Amino acid sequence: MLDKIKELTQTIEAFSIDSKEQLEQFRLEYLSKKGKITSMFDGFDFKTVAPEIKKSMGQEMNKLKVLAQTKFEEIQEKLNAGGADNNTHQKIDTSLPSIPNELGGRHPISVVREQIYTVFERMGFSLSDGPEIEDDFHNFTALNFPENHPAREMQDTFFIERNPDIVLRTHTSSVQVRVMENQKPPIRTISPGRVYRNEAISARAHCMFHQIEGLYVDKNVSFADLKNTLYHFSKEMFGKDTQIRFRPSFFPFTEPSAEMDISCFICNGKGCNICKQSGWVEIGGAGMLDPNVLTNCNIDPKVYSGFAFGMGIERITMLKYQIKDLRLFTENDVRFLRQFKHAE
Ligand code: PHE
Repeated sequence: MLDKIKELTQTIEAFSIDSKEQLEQFRLEYLSKKGKITSMFDGFDFKTVAPEIKKSMGQEMNKLKVLAQTKFEEIQEKLNAGGADNNTHQKIDTSLPSIPNELGGRHPISVVREQIYTVFERMGFSLSDGPEIEDDFHNFTALNFPENHPAREMQDTFFIERNPDIVLRTHTSSVQVRVMENQKPPIRTISPGRVYRNEAISARAHCMFHQIEGLYVDKNVSFADLKNTLYHFSKEMFGKDTQIRFRPSFFPFTEPSAEMDISCFICNGKGCNICKQSGWVEIGGAGMLDPNVLTNCNIDPKVYSGFAFGMGIERITMLKYQIKDLRLFTENDVRFLRQFKHAE
């Protein structure tokens, strides 16, 4: 019997297995119910063995079984790791550098919002935030939009509820109302955020976009302060040779009101496609706070004055990176987004 065990041990060790078929053959021959090892166990009568060698014989038989089982498992694992039945024994080289996972980047709107905010932060402006679903008072009434006045039509509003009206904010000026209600002057704050207007989506318009608005309220704030703040901002943001100009305009919450243009930083004011040969590009609205707005927010307009301005972040991003279609910002196309991976 011991000879038989020895013989089987040798054949098991010598059995060469290079494929899954051979492995299966091995299993059938040695490990299956009708295999050689099992039949040897079954066909052996322990009573016929002398008691002094019974123990060692049992041990030898077990050893044989473990040997076959371990060989089977090891080779099975190797073959599976090597992929298909291609007879390759793959080795893993642990000293190879790993393949790096591709990291995402920030969205261009976030990049530019931060650039804008950083300039104002250095001038002492704080950051303020407010709800995107807003009541009529904060989006319109406090900002001097009279009831049923056509000025409310200027901003194609999405209404969530009527009477009393709840709207998707049409501008982040609503955040400035909230700041003025809750803080005492001097106030210097910047409110970036998402805003909504019921406009058909095209290369130049969207029903959802981002604004960044600024507010400064203190004693003796003048239009000269407004001009200087925006002049400094434009130079920091678009380059030190940038010029600005103001054109008269109308907003219910500012008086006087203006649209602000900067000299085209692509052609340096000479005229190009981006500025439609005019040398100037519009970047936002601005003006001195209407005294009614201060009163609505419990600030005495006889003591305090202030200015406000607002810009579209998409517009500035489009100018800065010469992006021709506004829809690209919301399509999440990685071919577009990847180009801003290293923008700061
Ligand atoms: N809130 C205005 C708009 O959305 C922009 C603006 C802000 C104009 C502040 C003047 C002063 O169009």
